[in-house]
Amino acid sequence: MTQLVLAPMEGLVDWRVRQLLSAAGGFDQCVTEFIRVSQTLFPAHVFYRYCPELHQGCKTASGQPVLVQLMGHDPDLLGENAAFAVELGAPGIDINFGCPSKTVNKREAGASLLKCPENLFNIVRAVRAAVPGHIPVSAKIRLGYADKTLFLENARAVEEGGAQHLTVHARTKMEGYKPPAHWEYLARIREAISITMTANGEIWTVEDYIRCRDISGCTSFMLGRGAIACPDLAARIKAHEAGEDLQKQCWADVLDILLAYIDLLAQDGATENHQAGRIKQWVSMMRKGHGPASPCFDEIKRIREIGELREKLQRDRENPEYQRPEEPIAA
Ligand SMILES: Cc1cc2nc3c(=O)[nH]c(=O)nc-3n(C[C@H](O)[C@H](O)[C@H](O)COP(=O)(O)O)c2cc1C
Repeated sequence: MTQLVLAPMEGLVDWRVRQLLSAAGGFDQCVTEFIRVSQTLFPAHVFYRYCPELHQGCKTASGQPVLVQLMGHDPDLLGENAAFAVELGAPGIDINFGCPSKTVNKREAGASLLKCPENLFNIVRAVRAAVPGHIPVSAKIRLGYADKTLFLENARAVEEGGAQHLTVHARTKMEGYKPPAHWEYLARIREAISITMTANGEIWTVEDYIRCRDISGCTSFMLGRGAIACPDLAARIKAHEAGEDLQKQCWADVLDILLAYIDLLAQDGATENHQAGRIKQWVSMMRKGHGPASPCFDEIKRIREIGELREKLQRDRENPEYQRPEEPIAA
């Protein structure tokens, strides 16, 4: 059975986006944005801010469990924070070893830890020891920092540290987000470890999913920017696996999701600036998945008032042209 995980994406996939994308169907699990652990055991409100789902059994409104992701370099401090997150209700802890941010990497966290597999081993072991045995611990890695020479050692270090699961973003830190993702390495990792594994990187379409599945041999996949660009991507992948061909959402249906997002952000007390910023960011990222997102973005990018932005989306929502299937986007 194919498992689909919504990727953690800092500054982008907040709990409302998790709610909307998991409601769109296809996803089995979500992961919070990373919580950067550097000096202290965080108080409960920090965990609730990143993961409001902790108030509702740590599941999205449509029932998908949400793992809490931690990032840092101090094994004991990560362990303490992990134990507290579990006390608050986290069903699992994911550890971030993939973040490419310069600030984070200067402080020896995120992807810079991949330079030495022992770092991964020590952190995973400390987190594993700090949380109850029935709570899964997982790690998310890239194929390496500057190059891929340590990709197998790092994966083994995660397994030997006691993690139950590994997610691999099939690129090095230096490769950033540049295509391609090197799915062929995932097959080699899968053969070298015995814990379960999720493939990640550059799945934008059902066809990409099929190629990634065939090359990696994985049965679990994490979707990031592809699910932001096409909110129904996970649903279409699941339909494909069930032998059905689900037609891609039309732009009007996507606009319903964006309009719902504005309402949810307002409900949470987000400033109008924040609401407008998030909508522009999302529409901008949708340009890779939906043709009408480009003219829409050009029109909304200068709008500052959320009311005006909302009206524009609402008008497009009623436009008959956007109720029909779209032409494929030119590559
Ligand atoms: C804006 C942005 C924020 C991200 N934040 C996180 C994060 O908080 N934790 C994490 O493990 N990965 C993070 N990632 C990496 C994604 O989870 C994912 O590994 C990456 O985007 C590759 O998958 P994709 O090609 O499907 O997008 C982020 C990526 C982007 C583009």
